[in-house]
Amino acid sequence: MSKVLFIASEAQPLIKTGGLADVSGALPAALKALRCNVRLMLPAYAQVLEKLDKPRSIAHLTLPGIPGSVELLEDKLPNTNVKLILVNYAPAFDRPGNPYLDDTGQPWPDNAERFALLARAACEVALDRAGLNWQPDIVHCNDWQTGLVPALLNLHSKRPATVFTIHNLAYQGLFPQKTFVYLNLPPHLWSLNALEFHNQLSFIKGGLVFADRINTVSPRYAEEIQTPEFGCGLEGLLQYRHAALNGIINGIDDTEWNPETDPHIARHYKSEQLQDKQANKLALQKTFQLPQDEDALLLGFIGRLVEQKGIDLIIEAMEALAEENIQLVVLGTGEKLFHTQLQQLAQRLPQQVGVNIGYSEALAHQIEAGADAFLMPSRFEPCGLNQLYSLRYGTLPIVHNVGGLADTVTDISPENLISNQATGAVFDTPDADSLRQAIIRAYTLFQNPTQWQQVIRNGMQKSYNWNNSARQYLKLYKAAISQRNINGV
Ligand code: ADP
Ligand code: GLC
Repeated sequence: MSKVLFIASEAQPLIKTGGLADVSGALPAALKALRCNVRLMLPAYAQVLEKLDKPRSIAHLTLPGIPGSVELLEDKLPNTNVKLILVNYAPAFDRPGNPYLDDTGQPWPDNAERFALLARAACEVALDRAGLNWQPDIVHCNDWQTGLVPALLNLHSKRPATVFTIHNLAYQGLFPQKTFVYLNLPPHLWSLNALEFHNQLSFIKGGLVFADRINTVSPRYAEEIQTPEFGCGLEGLLQYRHAALNGIINGIDDTEWNPETDPHIARHYKSEQLQDKQANKLALQKTFQLPQDEDALLLGFIGRLVEQKGIDLIIEAMEALAEENIQLVVLGTGEKLFHTQLQQLAQRLPQQVGVNIGYSEALAHQIEAGADAFLMPSRFEPCGLNQLYSLRYGTLPIVHNVGGLADTVTDISPENLISNQATGAVFDTPDADSLRQAIIRAYTLFQNPTQWQQVIRNGMQKSYNWNNSARQYLKLYKAAISQRNINGV
């Protein structure tokens, strides 16, 4: 039974900005169900502590450069049996709002210190120096916030094996060289073969260079990031490490995302009773003050409003679809420019477009249940979870042929319709006209209810549960342990 220390900067249901939280909230429990002894480590953000009853103090650590002591708290991740270790240091984590950004949307000025502290605390636990009498076999790190962990552990002969998961290569944790000095990191790590990236300190390189195994969240993205188009300047390093790199598609939490039991939606439904989905459509149109028209094709979008997600393409495509009986509802927050542009679109097309600039779990579920189709024209998408939720909810995904979207959605081409493989509309070029054409193809299918329902059912039968993916992580852990034994110190 492997002992796994899983480290992340967010986890559902305690703190979430995106899909990383869905993964960190579900994968540890799925690993536990496969008899792994897993502990999930998170920063003790104010919002996390508010949601827990009385976490128990289990250790006090003295860490380099940190005045006073850093406390470790223990609890359970809500609704699971997974042990949670929280790194509690008020100056770093006791502040309101987003874990990474201040009120103005700028990164917190001390992010490097905050996540270096998380990494150093994780290393103490990983090396069994925190007095917990528990040493993991595997340390599983996620995204740049945990990137220093493999780099720092690599200095120790008695270290566990390390795995680094890339959820999004575009976020790298880059800081000026003076931060490297200020953090008092071992001087030999300032090298192009270590943490230096174009004269900056790169947290993510700690994971990419030093982890025994690297993975990303879909096979397609694992290939893409080895090319200049998607590699964000790190493609050379990823090519060099290709033997240690693979892709494992994310699962979904199928208790939280289940149209037969979802507490947030107007009416429960299943694939044999699709007519019940209609009640959710009408409720959603009402919520967004759109005409309650069953014949309109109702499109949904939920997500971070950033360039990655192709919001600009949605806005442009909708302008071009103003003459069609097509509606759109949007839920998201992000860049101010997109907030304004979306609100202007809703003002110009009030019968067609409803926009909610905000964050709401309940509304996200209502959109998945109520929309006919779901838009994901992402320029790149490491995995993407909303297309998986859409498949489960009988909501046809319309996606760019990239990353995890390409791996999980099969186009409504004539051949795929005949062979009953089709689950969504896939388009090849990330521009507004290609998106518009994909929407029109979906709309044409929508007007043929028998075919439409067949495609919806094909999607609902797909199963992206965590059990499958967790089994692949177990294999990855084994490979990392063998690699660690070869690497030695
Ligand atoms: P990413 O991690 O790049 O943001 P994913 O598709 O992997 O993209 O995951 C996004 C997750 O965050 C999904 O669970 C989605 O429903 C959720 N989400 C994003 N924005 C919002 C929002 N404004 N309100 C509610 N849920 C949101
Ligand atoms: C990232 C990616 C997204 C992925 C999520 C969880 O934020 O942008 O595609 O689904 O991480 O792995």
